[in-house]
Amino acid sequence: MKKRRKIISVAIDSPAAAGAGTQGKLIAKEYNLLYLDTGKIYRLLGKLRLQNKKKFTKKLVKKKIKNIKFKDLNDKNLLNDDIAISASIIAKDKAIRKIIKNFQKNCAYNPPLKYSGSVLDGRDITSVIMKDAMFKFYITANLKERSKRRYLEFKKLKKNVLFKDVLKSLRNRDYLDKTRSHSPLKKTQDSILINTSKLSKKACFLKIKAIMDKKLKPNGNI
Ligand code: C5P
Repeated sequence: MKKRRKIISVAIDSPAAAGAGTQGKLIAKEYNLLYLDTGKIYRLLGKLRLQNKKKFTKKLVKKKIKNIKFKDLNDKNLLNDDIAISASIIAKDKAIRKIIKNFQKNCAYNPPLKYSGSVLDGRDITSVIMKDAMFKFYITANLKERSKRRYLEFKKLKKNVLFKDVLKSLRNRDYLDKTRSHSPLKKTQDSILINTSKLSKKACFLKIKAIMDKKLKPNGNI
């Protein structure tokens, strides 16, 4: 039997705008890991749904996922709020989640050889996609703080938005993501809780790094 390659695997779940993406990228850089923001896959499909309306079918989703490229996930337009809500709506669909599962698992457990492992963030990473990850984190922050961060992100991108609308949209998505029947967002028992409400990006990363180094470098070796 082929032996599975030993890799560093990091699974992160979080509600929207809690800082998981920032931390995921920092972790990837520090430990030379492939980083996948799985929310972007749902957003890509959310956009496809808005563009195709009634012609949005499972067949179309399968075709899109079959031809998915990492660069498709970097499209700045995916950050739009209408796309985020559309993503949350399709994310309730069990069949759609199943179509995306293999792509995510492949990134998680079979990253290109140049990487020492992988870090994925999303809503069902610790509970479904990477159940046996070496490290599992649940990153969160209070709604007001998350809304403030997302609002500033939009402003930086010169998007004309109101703070109250950003807050309303995040609250709506929290509700959709936490209450759906398939793969709802939740903190698994074996995930480490990181609340970033009062933490700077750096302080948060140092906290995560300390946890990871304790296991990866028990003797202080680099
Ligand atoms: O993380 P982001 O806000 O970009 O995710 C957009 C939406 O995609 C989420 O609100 C959620 O409904 C869905 N999603 C999901 N499972 C994931 C990642 C994202 O259901 N692993």
